[in-house]
Amino acid sequence: MKTVVEAKNISFKYDVVPVLEDANLTVYEGDFMGIVGPNGSAKSTLIKLLLGLLKPQQGEIYLMDKSLQNFKEWHSIGYISQKVKGFNNSFPATVEEIVAANLYKEMGVFKFIRAKHREKIDEVLDIVGMTDYKKRLIGSLSGGQQQRIFIARTLISNPQIIFMDEPLVGVDLESEERFYRLMEKLNKDLGITLIMVSHDIGVITERTNRVACVGKRQVFVHDSKTFNNEEYIKSVYGDKIKLLHHRH
Ligand SMILES: Nc1ncnc2c1ncn2[C@@H]1O[C@H](COP(=O)(O)OP(=O)(O)OP(=O)(O)O)[C@@H](O)[C@H]1O
Ligand SMILES: [Mg+2]
Repeated sequence: MKTVVEAKNISFKYDVVPVLEDANLTVYEGDFMGIVGPNGSAKSTLIKLLLGLLKPQQGEIYLMDKSLQNFKEWHSIGYISQKVKGFNNSFPATVEEIVAANLYKEMGVFKFIRAKHREKIDEVLDIVGMTDYKKRLIGSLSGGQQQRIFIARTLISNPQIIFMDEPLVGVDLESEERFYRLMEKLNKDLGITLIMVSHDIGVITERTNRVACVGKRQVFVHDSKTFNNEEYIKSVYGDKIKLLHHRH
């Protein structure tokens, strides 16, 4: 199995208190990895460290076998941050323009959308099932639809790995189902490695192949099939919380 993301003995603190200490994580090519843990356990921090947006005080991070300092293929990496939902709804851009923005590097100085770009835009909108919304203003779409557009925007540079930080917050059950079907398509058909933070432990273990639990400044990876939700929840949240099962 090829390793595509590796964190080795990383420690990180924003100020004086470490939020990760000597933590390790390995992600293999083709993984759909869930990241779970209580609020404030450093899930978002971990993702930002893996993407080089934060720098660990100790330890090494490798993306696709290169240490982060030497990593150059950022076009192969997609990131959908926790903040996307705070998107300003009066932003005067169409779906097409939002998706095309990730092509700007290829467009040259005049920023024209050329025929080959249009093809690519159509292709990624088709993958996320949003072709009919191409000319709509981004702010006129629902939260779930906007999210599909941000996924399309990530797909336009043919990423090999996509990091997502709580993409399902505020998404209804039907959209959640559509989202997971889309993830399966990206993961299984397009071979994209997915790393996704979620609070819905019951669902994430059914959809992913591995789950990373962040807590107590450490990261523990489990096989989703053998991961014991109830035991995990008790160990993290105590006895008071009950696991909600969405599926029947
Ligand atoms: N910019 C920052 N400056 C200082 N402390 C921070 C900063 N960002 C996060 N923290 C702290 O680091 C810890 C980990 O935060 P992080 O956002 O990674 O948690 P999380 O697991 O993603 O939580 P959530 O489930 O609420 O999204 C928290 O205690 C948080 O308060
Ligand atoms: Mg977070």
